[in-house]
Amino acid sequence: KSNMHNSTITDQTKLQGNVKRYAAKQAALQIIAKPLLANNTVKIVNMPAVVDIKPLLKLTENLGGTFSFSDTNTVEINTCCLTNTIATDDIVKTMRATILVLGPLLSRFGHCEVSLPVGCAIGQRPIDLHLKALEQMGANITIHAGYVQAEAPDGLQGAHIIFDKITVTGTANIVMAAALAKGTTNITNAAREPEVVQLCEILRDSGVVITGIGTAELSIAGTGGKLVDIVPFDVIPDRIEAGTYLCAAGISNSTVTLENVRPDHLEAVTGKLEEMGFDIDTTENTMTIHPTDTIKPVTIVTQEYPAFPTDMQAQFMALATQAEGTSTIEERLFENRFMHVSELQRLGADIKLNGHTATVIGPSLLSGTDVMATDLRASSAMVIAANIAEGTTQVHRIYHLDRGYENLEKKLGDLGAKIERLSE
Ligand code: EPZ
Repeated sequence: KSNMHNSTITDQTKLQGNVKRYAAKQAALQIIAKPLLANNTVKIVNMPAVVDIKPLLKLTENLGGTFSFSDTNTVEINTCCLTNTIATDDIVKTMRATILVLGPLLSRFGHCEVSLPVGCAIGQRPIDLHLKALEQMGANITIHAGYVQAEAPDGLQGAHIIFDKITVTGTANIVMAAALAKGTTNITNAAREPEVVQLCEILRDSGVVITGIGTAELSIAGTGGKLVDIVPFDVIPDRIEAGTYLCAAGISNSTVTLENVRPDHLEAVTGKLEEMGFDIDTTENTMTIHPTDTIKPVTIVTQEYPAFPTDMQAQFMALATQAEGTSTIEERLFENRFMHVSELQRLGADIKLNGHTATVIGPSLLSGTDVMATDLRASSAMVIAANIAEGTTQVHRIYHLDRGYENLEKKLGDLGAKIERLSE
């Protein structure tokens, strides 16, 4: 039998308790690429132990770097003596965000080859904006035999980059490239996601002159090739993981407290939960969601930060199946991010799809059956829905979950969910 992993969730359970949270995988990915700019050993505390981290660490090793974990969530990375600037397709194909090495490697060495990342289940995921920006900074870029071949023999030159679309890893790539470039790079229409903000703050605290942090206009004064002494830091908490637990609590009408969270990173999500009738108490680093007697329907449009995040779309669709009325969810970032709809329908959800808008009519009584996880965030949506479905639900291909969630079933189990991971 194929070694499909799945997880079984039985019966409806109210959740109760606190969740200690881990760090943001998206932030961590940008942060693992950053030592490529460093001439020191970079210490990263609170690194999430999720699957997506591994390919980027392995790539760092393939390039000649070294890393060592002093505990599950603390790693030191040293890239002072890199011997190679080729990111091969065996690694890139396992995790497309390895494209984040392109900017730093090119800026540091004046050449690199990175296997062209393929799209993924949710969309084609092009990197044209990354490449166009690097060309504006003086790089010669060709695509040959499935590789991005980038040359900048005289190093990269600061430029004024205007992103046609807001791109998270595109902005991160250019910020890192600009850090070692000659002259100043101004980025217009930069991504403002917290993980991009943290990347900029760490570089600023390490001596790179960056202004406009947290805004859509960034200005980076390059060091002209001098490597950076990167200060140690804690990875920010994962706002998407936090939002996922809030939805898990909301759908099961439970009181759950999240510790070590940044409520200011979740304002759009909190706003939508409050619109649905939930009360959420926050302190500087905790959030507590309280039950509501009626879950109200909601209208959601996914957009770039600080608006409602696309990575929370599937989880809110699961929650909307229990709202009293009709919710509409429009996905504006990715062309194929509704694969969880048919799986939720198998549980009994009443959802109509019309192009990029899903209409969810609730409340539906969900009954357990076999369903499939199709991508990272859809997996968590299935686990959330299964937690309140009657009877047992087998969520197959649950390995998607491990890309971005550390011990999700243990954390939900600690809150009272009856969930176990099987492998068949
Ligand atoms: C990051 O992907 C995240 N991944 C995604 O999270 C997240 O969904 C996405 O940002 C949007 O918030 C990581 O950070 C590792 P984009 P990224 O470049 O950077 C188009 C998850 O669940 N675009 O901001 O690849 C693109 O097609 C993952 O953890 C171009 O057209 O996303 C998309 O429509 C899924 N050309 C939009 O921009 C480009 O060169 C946003 O993409 C780049 C992007």
